[in-house]
Amino acid sequence: MKRKRKVNKKRIVILFLLLIIITLLIICYICTLFNSKNSSLKDIGYNNLEITEIEKLTKSEIDTIMNYEYNKNLIYIIDSENYNPNKLDLYLKYTEKYKDIDYLKIFELINHEDFNEDKIEDYVNILDKYDVNSVIKYINEYNNDFKLSDDLMALLNEKYFINDYLDRYLNYYKNHKDLTYSEIVKRVNAKLDYTFYEDSKESDLSKGMYTLVNKFYYLDKDYIPDDLVTVSGIYARDTAQIKRVAYDNFVKLADDARSKGLTLKVTTGYRSYNFQATLYNNYVKADGVKNADTYSARPGYSEHQLGYSLDLTNKNNVSFDEFANTPEYKWLKDNAYKYGFILRYPKGKEYITGYIFEAWHIRYVGIDIATYIYENDITYEEYYEYFLR
Ligand code: DAL
Ligand code: ZN
Repeated sequence: MKRKRKVNKKRIVILFLLLIIITLLIICYICTLFNSKNSSLKDIGYNNLEITEIEKLTKSEIDTIMNYEYNKNLIYIIDSENYNPNKLDLYLKYTEKYKDIDYLKIFELINHEDFNEDKIEDYVNILDKYDVNSVIKYINEYNNDFKLSDDLMALLNEKYFINDYLDRYLNYYKNHKDLTYSEIVKRVNAKLDYTFYEDSKESDLSKGMYTLVNKFYYLDKDYIPDDLVTVSGIYARDTAQIKRVAYDNFVKLADDARSKGLTLKVTTGYRSYNFQATLYNNYVKADGVKNADTYSARPGYSEHQLGYSLDLTNKNNVSFDEFANTPEYKWLKDNAYKYGFILRYPKGKEYITGYIFEAWHIRYVGIDIATYIYENDITYEEYYEYFLR
């Protein structure tokens, strides 16, 4: 009896020892597994802090990570609230492949509901220029119209390219495939994809002396500029009214012109809405709407109502038509910008401004802008839409 009890006790001890050994073995196995993973992550290049974060992931995620090179953005990706474990492989694959592109954009792209891995090359070609939504939309809509990465990149790199107008450029291109991208950008920026007068809206007067008034932007019939001063004496044919800043600079311009033997006089400055209405209606009666529209603004659409525009003549009071042949015009065209004035309706830009060449009409915009417009040979429409809109 006593012996049997002793044998039982011995068995229990052996069993107990066996259990401990098995437990220790299991622990060791887990440790080895753990350590090998840990050291592999280290071998790839991850530091201890990164490894701690990675180890919070599932085994399959960790295995995926170990298929790729060290990824310096991995922790940001897996910690992001939009992180999707099923897409980890894609994140790693493409952030590794397109190292020059912001990894957040790649991440966002892959997360997008319309993401299509077959089009990744196309997306990436324009990804640095646009937000992900636009990229996906443009590629989906225009892939068949554009030799992507050649044509589209050429368009995107145009000097006056405006991001928000990409859709409009592409639509315009569809119907004007003979035009250069530079011309497409120029025309769309100047709103030529819309119809004069039909798609117009009120001028943005918060732009002050830079306000644009043309066939797309009109002034209220009650708008009368403040700070108008009278031009008279040697500076005007009769009398006219213009904004003070335009007056001060015109006086400088006219004085310098006079020192060169040239006489520049204002014939018209500010014109009220009602005056413009009478003028325009008379032109229409005499010449028809179509012709009148080429040289006269409709009421509300005249820049003269803004107060910064001047019509000029010389000492012989030549007519508008003759002014382009005077020495005054020859001097004015290359010097007006030094005083802050631009030739508002230049030769060759009729299709942009919507008006025939008006050698006699200048507009004050300040020296900096006038200089830019002169040096770059662009219209105020183009300048305004690109820089001031
Ligand atoms: N002649 C210019 C365009 C005007 O009527 O305002
Ligand atoms: Zn004028």
